[in-house]
Amino acid sequence: MFKIAIIGCGNMGLTYAKSFLQFNLVTRENLLLVARDKDHKQELDGMDIGVSVAGIGSQVADCGVIVIAVKPQDFHSVVDDLKSILLPHNVVLSVMAGITVETIQKALDHEIIIRAMPNTPAQLGMGVTAFTGSKNVNIHQVSIIDNLLSTTGRTIFLEDEQQLDAVTALSGSGPAYFFYIVKSMIEAGKEMGLEESVAAMLVKQTMLGSFHLMNQSPKKLDELISAVTSKGGTTEAALKTFNARKIDESLMKAIFAAQHRAMELSKSE
Ligand SMILES: NC(=O)c1ccc[n+]([C@@H]2O[C@H](COP(=O)([O-])OP(=O)(O)OC[C@H]3O[C@@H](n4cnc5c(N)ncnc54)[C@H](OP(=O)(O)O)[C@@H]3O)[C@@H](O)[C@H]2O)c1
Repeated sequence: MFKIAIIGCGNMGLTYAKSFLQFNLVTRENLLLVARDKDHKQELDGMDIGVSVAGIGSQVADCGVIVIAVKPQDFHSVVDDLKSILLPHNVVLSVMAGITVETIQKALDHEIIIRAMPNTPAQLGMGVTAFTGSKNVNIHQVSIIDNLLSTTGRTIFLEDEQQLDAVTALSGSGPAYFFYIVKSMIEAGKEMGLEESVAAMLVKQTMLGSFHLMNQSPKKLDELISAVTSKGGTTEAALKTFNARKIDESLMKAIFAAQHRAMELSKSE
């Protein structure tokens, strides 16, 4: 079993650490958690997830896979130390949003880079991650990374790195869109006189049930909408308002704006 290093043990880094352990893809002794400083190292020691160290040292290069899970703006703080110890066979997996494979390759002077875009339901093993790799990444390395990423949910390999900008806009940011819609529905419930807890229960269970219905029914989305909508009824009144306000167009425009921002960030590194 190969060793894994995780540089940046915040939300995503710890999600991976716990998920890799949960599925026995690594042992605690073979999992190296790299903290920024001694205080954070002490915190990680208390969690008993793996072997923690403060700062990047030569132990990192003993790891077959090195995960970079720092914020994009902190990548520069990793570069010099990591570059100086990397060995040609190390597979570097970056989950940093908006930093391209080429930028990472150049910064680290390293060939084998895989870039992934996960989302926050990864914390529950219900995430979805799209990933891509540098040209020289081989099928063996892709499948090792696929096994690791799929401990947090579904995965998809994309040949074309540019598609990661659309992925970022759709599934990376997607949880926020969902919470935004849920929040508006709960607010509407409160305005109509329901207790917040009652409105929240009704909305959350409606979302959960509707998700399963969508997934298990052979019907298309338009048919599922029609099945709730009778002529002159309540749902029709709501849908007429959505259509009059072009809510579908607004949602699409918002997602395109997220894609555009992802493209800008990739270019401005
Ligand atoms: N959260 C999401 O939905 C999501 C989705 C897709 C991708 N991502 C990507 O995942 C990455 C991590 O996001 P996050 O939400 O997990 O951030 P986070 O909770 O802030 O975690 C980042 C961690 O990296 C540590 N760090 C910074 N510089 C370091 C260094 N030089 N050496 C070691 N550790 C260092 C930070 O320590 P300090 O606290 O001491 O600074 C912090 O513990 C980001 O690049 C983000 O783009 C996140």
